[in-house]
Amino acid sequence: MSGKITINGQIIDFTDEKNILAVARKAGIEIPTLCYHPELTVVGACRLCVVEIERMGIQASCSTAPVDGMVVYTNSERVNQVRKMVLELLLANHDRECTTCESSGACKLQQYASDYGIKRLRYPNRSQMLPLDTSSLSVVRDPNKCILCGLCVRVCKEKQGIGVWDFKNRGSKTEIVAAMDQPLAESACINCGQCIAVCPCGALTSNSSSIQEVWAAIRDPKKTVICQIAPAPRA
Ligand code: SF4
Ligand code: FES
Repeated sequence: MSGKITINGQIIDFTDEKNILAVARKAGIEIPTLCYHPELTVVGACRLCVVEIERMGIQASCSTAPVDGMVVYTNSERVNQVRKMVLELLLANHDRECTTCESSGACKLQQYASDYGIKRLRYPNRSQMLPLDTSSLSVVRDPNKCILCGLCVRVCKEKQGIGVWDFKNRGSKTEIVAAMDQPLAESACINCGQCIAVCPCGALTSNSSSIQEVWAAIRDPKKTVICQIAPAPRA
């Protein structure tokens, strides 16, 4: 399907782009995202990519297909209000010890909070101090920083064909676990680091193990190494 849409007054052609986000980015219009990656399936989980569409209201741009004649605004007052609320809700459930976080300075959540001028939260802090999983040679999982974007789940399943990570529970009790809630070291993880590369906010970081230890684990015949590919680019 092809056609033209108007974004912020600019008429843009689309051809095979599957969502408004891709059309906007093609034209150099930036929209913030936390759960989107162009090479993975789209789930529309974080809602940070919302835009305002005439006659449709506020919609997630990553999961809304462009339709010929659509008129879209990516930075209206309403859009910015919704994005701020989304960020505040995520931050209310996030360990905000940024000064000691390995991802400080490379964290999308931190960057967007700064971009949207978030100085204080309207919502109570719900983050619990759950134990970290440091069992793996390559990956440290900090559940207190997870925003449930699901990128680790999808990259491990769709790119590596393994599926170490998955969701557990539902609603406010949802969490990401490895291998049916086992320590990561006891899973089929091949230490490829793809999940670290896509995690937007420091919930998955690299362990300080030596590269020799990691390669020894990869060569372990008990592990099923399917492939080793370069880490997926950050979304
Ligand atoms: Fe997203 Fe990281 Fe949580 Fe996985 S661990 S769901 S990549 S925030
Ligand atoms: Fe669209 Fe998360 S990037 S909902």
